[in-house]
Amino acid sequence: MLVRYITKNKIKIITKNISYLERLYFMCGIVGYVGKKNCLPLLINGLNKLEYRGYDSAGIAVFKDNDIKITKTVGRIRDLDDIIDYNDSSCIGIGHTRWATHGGAVTVNAHPHRQGDIVIVHNGIIENYLELKDILLENNYKFSSETDTEVACAYIDYLYKKNKDMISVLEQCTRDFIGSYAMAIMVCSDNDKIYVIKKDSPLVIGSCEGENYIASSTNAFSNDIDRYIILDDYDYGYIDEKDIAIYNNGILQTKEYVRFNSADDVCDKKGYKHYMLKEINEQGDIIKKLNDKYLNNLGELIDISRFNEIHIIGCGSAYHAGIIGKYLIEENNGINVSVYIASEYRYQKINYRDNTLVIAISQSGETADTIACLKKARSNGIYTLGIVNVKDSTISRIVDEVIYTEAGNEIAVATTKGYLTQVYILTLLSIKLIKDNTVFIEELKRVPSIIDNLINLDYNDLVKDIWKDKDIFYIGRNIDYASMLEGALKLKEISYIHAECYAAGELKHGTISLIEKNTCVVGLITKDNIATKTISNIKEVKARDAYVILIVKDSLGDIISSDCYDKLLLIDSVSDIIEPMISVIPLQLIAYNVALINNCDIDKPRNLAKSVTVE
Ligand code: AGP
Repeated sequence: MLVRYITKNKIKIITKNISYLERLYFMCGIVGYVGKKNCLPLLINGLNKLEYRGYDSAGIAVFKDNDIKITKTVGRIRDLDDIIDYNDSSCIGIGHTRWATHGGAVTVNAHPHRQGDIVIVHNGIIENYLELKDILLENNYKFSSETDTEVACAYIDYLYKKNKDMISVLEQCTRDFIGSYAMAIMVCSDNDKIYVIKKDSPLVIGSCEGENYIASSTNAFSNDIDRYIILDDYDYGYIDEKDIAIYNNGILQTKEYVRFNSADDVCDKKGYKHYMLKEINEQGDIIKKLNDKYLNNLGELIDISRFNEIHIIGCGSAYHAGIIGKYLIEENNGINVSVYIASEYRYQKINYRDNTLVIAISQSGETADTIACLKKARSNGIYTLGIVNVKDSTISRIVDEVIYTEAGNEIAVATTKGYLTQVYILTLLSIKLIKDNTVFIEELKRVPSIIDNLINLDYNDLVKDIWKDKDIFYIGRNIDYASMLEGALKLKEISYIHAECYAAGELKHGTISLIEKNTCVVGLITKDNIATKTISNIKEVKARDAYVILIVKDSLGDIISSDCYDKLLLIDSVSDIIEPMISVIPLQLIAYNVALINNCDIDKPRNLAKSVTVE
């Protein structure tokens, strides 16, 4: 028998210790509202705040005239907004943005889905949906979409028809659903509640007087919300206007509320044309804030020298930050560092040695492959450190120790300040171990103004001859190579121009065959001891009539002859350790300006989602 009792702020908690499964999928977004207001504008507002995550269709469902009315469409939230009938005022509703996984981006596959009495929105993948579908087909259910979600919906309806208690239906689902799920569920005959169930995809419940909200991320919350709870895996329950009841394994839970500070700035471009540009421009101030926090308190940071070996894991830009970290730590501290792409590491045979540290880098703190790697490391008894931006994210909660990068909300899909702050933290970890680090500390103090000055240069002119190109090569050596990996990724993701990054000395082992008249090669030269080597590689491509943009540390300017480049950008000279924080700024702005001239959807590039990748 289920005992339900609810106090105003607390629900009894008894946490079941269930290990995380391997996969997480939540590139979609969920919102839900129960209260006294018309939920339609609230749902649309919430979905707008989740738009940055990437999606290709959207929909809402609201109680109306003893039934549930669903409105959904492919396209943007504004397309959904266009077809919503705002006369359908309702105080309870759910909404969803879908990033297609099972089934194409067509309206019939969009959420919410309905089967019988049940309407659901779902983030995640029900992996055993075909088995469940067989049971349902035998029981005369018919399906109009290709989605696993419609099957899950029908399965809930099937159980509900047998047992009219939704709480025990959902408890059954935690046993029967294999995969990942965050679901918001409406039941036709139960028009004052939204039910929830969660495993491996985030779901939070926000509250204020007389109102409760559901969301896949606090970013979707209305500014009215003052507190929220985070659901754990295998939690299920409901919200209504007054109460929140969450169960786990049949037991009513008590959850601590987290204070919610208004997400006011989440959807404010602050006058900039794009979030990406706003976020690029925030970088100087963020580094200044981090300097104020850390430069006199390096002792607060973990001492990585106590480990014999370090593995750094991440995806995309976080992986690139990890490569920077490897160069910094190995060159200055002599510890062996291996950097792994998370999707490889998770399935790779890793021979852990005694006293290894695993550092997981992630802006969102929710990337599926990175989380899987952490679980793997932890199950081998390895100490784990997270370098994470989003507070209370999954990674921040499962690591032994977390350092927050404190970059603030990053909305643009292409990370800029997220990446830079990851590099900053790795720089600090490395500097901390250098005996006389005064010079580096002093240089770090100069970084904010250097960044601001670099941002103000004319990148439009720098890219005016290359924005139409189809292929661009990025080359550099050592730590410059790592920075160029990030530069090339930035260009690819927001301008859709093919960009290839090569270690400069590697070009002649094959790829140089692609260099012909006017092929653009962007070169980065900041390391004194190997500058001449990279210059030789630049000359090799110049000899094949490449169009060369060179980014060079100011102090090396004298050794660059004018026949080496078509455009030259001199950047401020700082020590090798600090330079990656400087050299990435023009790379971000080259990508931004090329995408701008090409009229690309800079903040929401095609096919990409912000916070999490599927496996
Ligand atoms: C970077 O611009 C990309 N959007 C992407 O490579 C990103 O860095 C990667 O998906 C990792 O995300 P995370 O930092 O949130 O784990």
